[in-house]
Amino acid sequence: MLARIPRWANENVLVGFDTADDAGVYKLTPECALVQTVDFFTPIVDDPYTFGAIAAANALSDVYAMGGRPVSALSTLAWPAKGDLEELAEILRGGAEKMHEADCAVLGGHSVQDSEIKFGYAVTGVIHPDRIKTNTGARPGDALMLTKRIGTGVIATALKRGTAKDADVEAAVESMLTLNRKACETMLEYDVHGCTDVTGFGLIGHAREMAIGSGVTIEIDPRAVRFLPGAVDYARQGAIPGGLKNNREFAANCVTGESEFDDLLYDPQTSGGLLISLPEAEAGKLEQRFPAAYCIGRVTESQGKPIRLLGR
Ligand code: CO
Ligand code: CO
Ligand code: CO
Repeated sequence: MLARIPRWANENVLVGFDTADDAGVYKLTPECALVQTVDFFTPIVDDPYTFGAIAAANALSDVYAMGGRPVSALSTLAWPAKGDLEELAEILRGGAEKMHEADCAVLGGHSVQDSEIKFGYAVTGVIHPDRIKTNTGARPGDALMLTKRIGTGVIATALKRGTAKDADVEAAVESMLTLNRKACETMLEYDVHGCTDVTGFGLIGHAREMAIGSGVTIEIDPRAVRFLPGAVDYARQGAIPGGLKNNREFAANCVTGESEFDDLLYDPQTSGGLLISLPEAEAGKLEQRFPAAYCIGRVTESQGKPIRLLGR
């Protein structure tokens, strides 16, 4: 579908929509480029303040995934005609405070009337044109690291079904509220070849884009992947989000090997972690400096399919 959008060569477009990357990058001067992205979605938690804050952390994440520094944002809002304005004020307050935590200025926004609440931001960041981290730079011999645990999709589904434990929901919310800022700032100290963030397409979906874009195979060890508390149980009990099934159908023919946790590897994440490809020798150092980061696999020459799941 994207292939049908006409495009015109522009030497200042450093990253466009050809490579399924996290954000677009536009060069302003030889020293400065803009990183631009937009994201919004329907409420995933009951508390409006928390929803606003998660929407902000999630929208900022694509700038961090490029190695950029967010500077400004515009909110995007769909709001029902008879919506509760107290609730809206809380959503906006949660978003504003999370943006402030990121030192990102909210300049305004736009709203439309709609039957279903949707909220998010268009975020602009800055980056030096030579320091862009794309999702097409993974190289054979790299280790693959992830900076958050997986499972926000199944936990949100269990929450909607009323089967999620409070403590599990709190842990998932805590994870979604965590900015990828520190992960980004830390990774920039190392020789990172490629980076993306794990969001709606799930771990395998985003690893797949990185593998295809980089012309490599990514081997993932499912036993190394860390899951949020309760996620494995809820998935076994059938709390499977619709997006997970779509992700699995879409990516399944790009994957070899099997795994018992296979469902969760396709779980759509909200405000997920950074997926980082860097030389094996650097991986241990990054983990020491940023203990939330852990190794989930490695990059090899292309083996035909983009993703290979190791062992059982
Ligand atoms: Co992204
Ligand atoms: Co995005
Ligand atoms: Co307007």
